[in-house]
Amino acid sequence: MALLSILCYPDPRLHTVAKPVAVVDSRIKRLIADMLQTMYEAKGIGLAATQVDEHVRLIVIDVSEERDQPLVLVNPQLVWTSQETHINEEGCLSVPGIYDGVERFDAVTVSAQDGEGKSRLVQAEDLLAVCIQHEMDHLMGKVFVEYLSPLKRNRIKKKMLKAQREEQR
Ligand code: NI
Repeated sequence: MALLSILCYPDPRLHTVAKPVAVVDSRIKRLIADMLQTMYEAKGIGLAATQVDEHVRLIVIDVSEERDQPLVLVNPQLVWTSQETHINEEGCLSVPGIYDGVERFDAVTVSAQDGEGKSRLVQAEDLLAVCIQHEMDHLMGKVFVEYLSPLKRNRIKKKMLKAQREEQR
């Protein structure tokens, strides 16, 4: 396993639309293992392949307290969403230090394949539902700050670029 580097907003590669995974082969399994390790190391609750510059429809999630319940979703598709929505505070490993409110469905059902390529249906609510929606946005090239006002987004963009410049010194 290897730690992967996570793209930081406003890196244009974060806006790439991911392609479906044709088959869960050894390359994809290695990517899944590396993404899980990278997510745990970064203390995140979710990571999309897009964020590690791999543009395939694959996300990993773990919202458990003990960090021992990894969820792997390959080719996730929303098949049902609740009518109710809520605004939740979100953050993202690609936008470190920034948290803001985004409106999401309270509950969703997703069809996907697991890390072995088996089809499954996942019913999710609360934090897991929010996380799935956030990570699926990444696969469409969308970062959560794009739901915020242009003013806020520009402020975040400037702040990120400044931090990245300082890091390079
Ligand atoms: Ni994110």
